[in-house]
Amino acid sequence: MVESLKVGLLGLGTVGTATAESLLSPNPAHALLKEITISKVGVNSLDKPRGVQLSAGVLTTDLEGIVSDPDIDLVVELIGGLEPARSLILKAIANGKHIVTANKAVISRYGEEIYQAAEQAGVYVLIEAAVAGGIPIIRPLQQALSVNRIDSILGIINGTTNYILTKMAAEGTDFAEVLAEAQQLGYAEADPSADVDGYDAADKIAILATLAFGEQVNLEDVSCDGIRQVSAVDIQYAERLGFEIKLLAIAQRDETGLQVRVHPTLLPKNHPLATIDGVNNAILVEGDPIGQVMFYGPGAGGGATGSAVVSDIMNIAAMLKSSQQVNPLIKIPQHPRSQLVPIQKLVTRFYARLICVDRPGVIGNLGTCFGKHDVSLESIVQIDFNNGLAEIVVVTHNVEEEKFRKALEEIPHLKGIDQIQIPSVLRVLREA
Ligand code: HSE
Repeated sequence: MVESLKVGLLGLGTVGTATAESLLSPNPAHALLKEITISKVGVNSLDKPRGVQLSAGVLTTDLEGIVSDPDIDLVVELIGGLEPARSLILKAIANGKHIVTANKAVISRYGEEIYQAAEQAGVYVLIEAAVAGGIPIIRPLQQALSVNRIDSILGIINGTTNYILTKMAAEGTDFAEVLAEAQQLGYAEADPSADVDGYDAADKIAILATLAFGEQVNLEDVSCDGIRQVSAVDIQYAERLGFEIKLLAIAQRDETGLQVRVHPTLLPKNHPLATIDGVNNAILVEGDPIGQVMFYGPGAGGGATGSAVVSDIMNIAAMLKSSQQVNPLIKIPQHPRSQLVPIQKLVTRFYARLICVDRPGVIGNLGTCFGKHDVSLESIVQIDFNNGLAEIVVVTHNVEEEKFRKALEEIPHLKGIDQIQIPSVLRVLREA
């Protein structure tokens, strides 16, 4: 029986501060929180002003000391980044400490190593805060939904890109302009790559796919395209054709196998994720027998993410009160390595925008070329005409990616098609 759980907190940024505030509250939301004590908080500098009042001697720059302190039962890692976060987590585990972390980058790359170490040490590693901030998704997948066969997870799990795409759609402005504005407002980082190139969403979907499909999916396996290629023109054309463009993270098992990917996707306007606007996140899980379940809410922010961190700490406290055994529904098990289906074998619909000289026979030649490569078109329309050039938008039925790309490669070599450019190729949510 553990009477009071002693926590060592690594990092006192936005999420760390919200976590500490919640644990130190004189009127905690749950009685169990009274049995949790913050023993140490590890930071880089003791001189920085802090948003939370800590007892004397709690704040320290000795992070190694925290992970080896025999008085500490649980280490909460909120420093982010790969190192020293990974090494500190592994050292804490080796010293028999439970772990709570919000670090998606470490878990999506080194989850296998960390879960294995935790299994050997008989400790918990809980990661609710690593995906979609305050939205409970990890524990629902492990517990309430675990009696289902999961068929797919579709997520808008990066708030920055959803904010940018929402603004581009509402105002007709291009990516670069909206990004600059988002950076000024603090919605996007000075170095926006992790968000706009899709890597943050890729980290998160790798973690969700591992839990949902029972196979270890690592970041390196995830196919990832960001939103830099999406233009205001594509958003307008998509709108006219009945679609919204969203950066989707997708983990889907079908007859060909498991695929995990992140890319801008055209979604029919009546799709549940098409209406998710702004910085919020949403995750649509489809399973059997449950059908579709959607999780929606704040995917970032100190309070929201802190709520997920504190809930993990409380779950560990509850488990330790009731048993010394690791609870199989709370711990993250080790899974065999996944063999994902390569993106070339993806079967989906496509949208492509082509620009070329406007002359008789162009659309006929394009149609013949697509047909030759087994690409069935849902629509091919000339939407606009500028400076003697026709702008043609094609939407396909389900087709293997490899076949569609081969058709695109051939188009510039077709007879009678001059000055061809293909500025956009986007995936459309596949037909059922
Ligand atoms: N930068 C992320 C986002 C939040 O924009 O959603 C943290 O993962």
